[in-house]
Amino acid sequence: MTAEALPAAEAASNTATELPPSLISTLPGRYYTDERIFAQEQEKVFESMWFCAVRSSELAKPGDFKNVQIGRESVLVNRARDGGLRAFLNICRHRGARLCTEESGSVKRSFQCPYHAWTYGLDGKLIAAPNLASMPDIDRTEYGLNAVHLREWLGYAWVNLAAEPPSFETDVMGAVTERLGNLEAIEHYQLDELEIGRRITYDVKANWKLIIENFMECYHCATIHPELTEVLPEFADGYAAQYFVGHGAEFGSDINGFTIDGSDGFEKLDGVAEDQDRRYYAVTIRPQVFVNLVPDHVIFHRMYPLSADRTIVECDWLYSKEVVASGRDVSRSVELFHRVNEQDFEACERCQPGMNSRAYAGGGVLMPSEHHIGEFHTWLQRRLA
Ligand code: FES
Ligand code: FE
Repeated sequence: MTAEALPAAEAASNTATELPPSLISTLPGRYYTDERIFAQEQEKVFESMWFCAVRSSELAKPGDFKNVQIGRESVLVNRARDGGLRAFLNICRHRGARLCTEESGSVKRSFQCPYHAWTYGLDGKLIAAPNLASMPDIDRTEYGLNAVHLREWLGYAWVNLAAEPPSFETDVMGAVTERLGNLEAIEHYQLDELEIGRRITYDVKANWKLIIENFMECYHCATIHPELTEVLPEFADGYAAQYFVGHGAEFGSDINGFTIDGSDGFEKLDGVAEDQDRRYYAVTIRPQVFVNLVPDHVIFHRMYPLSADRTIVECDWLYSKEVVASGRDVSRSVELFHRVNEQDFEACERCQPGMNSRAYAGGGVLMPSEHHIGEFHTWLQRRLA
């Protein structure tokens, strides 16, 4: 059976027996293992939606570039001479060679194809090629690199591969508003002003949806996150209280900071409001971003799905310029969420092989505190339909 032939309502009826009212079903196991379904997701999710590609400050000066795999495409993001960021498909317009083979780096003023030396400016325009001067009929913009839509927000470059991109305001900013109640709530943290204090990249042997689903629920918190539930006691009851609009989970009364042992963190970020102090807010921006806001730093996750059973997760711990410049020790605050990440990804990796089992062919079930994950499944199925 091809993925295209899957009936749309399948997830709702994937268990052999009628479910009791407190349970709803998950997606069937093959949604997490079938490369044909993954290929559909690449096309209809990652190549269609806004994808958070690069921290803008990583590309500090003109010529700095980074290649990012988005769906089936390699996308070259670089800083142009006018100081702005640009994104292009990383494919030479001549005979289709991969233009830039390094993952990241810096060029002086152009990208030169290693095959026949077609050369493109940082704005994507074709600026030179052997014998080009004798061919005035070749329009250098027309034969420039294929541009990809790019927006900067929260200090990151978000790119979109669609010819007509969906509204950034609705899809990306809207996800934040839906969760926090308004955009000002995230603007208080001034994410574009923050600097990377630590980045850890995780190679997770699990389908990207297992990672999202895990992030969306806290039913597992009491079992696998002893350090986190110590800092945020309300997480221990399993209800993802963080998903009520505008609600942030409050630090325990004996907790001083969002650190591995609850000891002092740093001064709260300028702009963080009184009612945001001593609270943790989590936001999911589909399809691949999680933002975690605490008073003195921000933890920003981006997923890069590589195959049905493998996802790279890049996690940035962002602090004020002053904290990063002072060289103060961030390890106690990094350690808390690093441990949470390891606990979460281990759980996802434990589930991944089960997705292939006949025991999970019809899927599993969601408890009441996880029912909102059903909405994610409906959303996904609509996109793939
Ligand atoms: Fe790039 Fe020929 S393929 S110059
Ligand atoms: Fe978790």
